[in-house]
Amino acid sequence: MTFDFDTPIQRAGTDSQKWQKYAGRDVLSLWVADMDFLSPPAIIAELQRRVDHGVFGYARPVKSTVSAVVDAMARNYGWSIEPSWIVWLPGLVVGLNVTAQAFAQPGDEVLSLAPVYPPFMTAPKNSGRVSVTVPFALCDGAWTIDWDAIERAVTPRTKMFFLCNPHNPLARVWRRDELIRLAEFCLRHNLLLCSDEIHCDLILDPSLPHIPTGTLGLEIAKRTITLMAPSKTYNVPGLGTSLAIIPDAALRAKFVSATAGIVAEVNALGYTACEAAYRDCEPWRQELLAYLRGNRDFLVNFVASELPYVRVAAPIEATYLAWLDVSALKLADPIAHFEKHGVGLSDGTYFGAKPGTHVRLNFGCTRATLVVALRRMKMAVSVMV
Ligand SMILES: Cc1ncc(COP(=O)(O)O)c(C=O)c1O
Repeated sequence: MTFDFDTPIQRAGTDSQKWQKYAGRDVLSLWVADMDFLSPPAIIAELQRRVDHGVFGYARPVKSTVSAVVDAMARNYGWSIEPSWIVWLPGLVVGLNVTAQAFAQPGDEVLSLAPVYPPFMTAPKNSGRVSVTVPFALCDGAWTIDWDAIERAVTPRTKMFFLCNPHNPLARVWRRDELIRLAEFCLRHNLLLCSDEIHCDLILDPSLPHIPTGTLGLEIAKRTITLMAPSKTYNVPGLGTSLAIIPDAALRAKFVSATAGIVAEVNALGYTACEAAYRDCEPWRQELLAYLRGNRDFLVNFVASELPYVRVAAPIEATYLAWLDVSALKLADPIAHFEKHGVGLSDGTYFGAKPGTHVRLNFGCTRATLVVALRRMKMAVSVMV
């Protein structure tokens, strides 16, 4: 390997949200979705070059930054986008909130599939819209969309569908037939489709392509807002640089007007990191994926052989996040229990799971950390059974 994912980086005692949570405690932090790895050397070098310039005035993307995004979409997914379709944002969660405000009225409904990344449910509520979730079905060991249930969930007040593509926390990559069916569903019910594709460059199964929702056809593209960012893949979420890709000019204008005076500009360092990520970091990304695949395989094998009553119910096809079913342990508070044994996980209830049933584990860490964390979890489970 050219790049080093094994050397631990000291994050405790820094500005890390992930590690501040357990400051002063011997708890391995495997919750919020950033990775413990250094960002790619090419990003660090470009940031250093930008810092050396020494002037940090208001920034706008330069042509080469926009070209890096446009080229990456074409190269990675065969998606030909126009520079004018891009709306820069300081975060994807901002994009979800703006979408809910711009395209629904108070009391209107936003549909999504649960469990799901919590802001899918909180963004509509933040502005008086209503979040309606439909549970996933587990069919033959795969998380699937309950098509009858989503039909039943539509009311005259349903205005949009929030899709997580690929899905956090279920780590599912949506297949073309599923996306087409979902697009048809949105068209039939006159729904806007907001597709959060922040994890799209983290597909672990090489046989599964990422299919941007915006590539499914002209008709659905006209009512699609795609949210993307280099943040998860290249581990730069603290630089707050994301984008909405909105092909339809009227939709885009409405989106942009909802941001006016409220949504902050993207910062100068964020643009620099974004350009380097999309232009220079493919070799790093490939090695990262290989490392994450190793972590995933280790985790899945460990859970199967060493953690009785804990289950990974379906393949982890993408992301560095594992959704663990701990319901058989019958714990009132699994998070507190695992913390007591030195492992900090995300609580499944935030994602819409029933209390006590699920936790999410972030395996974007060194293998050594993962090994210790899983051993601690084994201890935590062994005192229960
Ligand atoms: C699906 C999804 N969307 C958005 C975000 C966060 O995006 P941002 O930090 O750009 O607001 C995350 C972070 O975990 C995520 O998993």
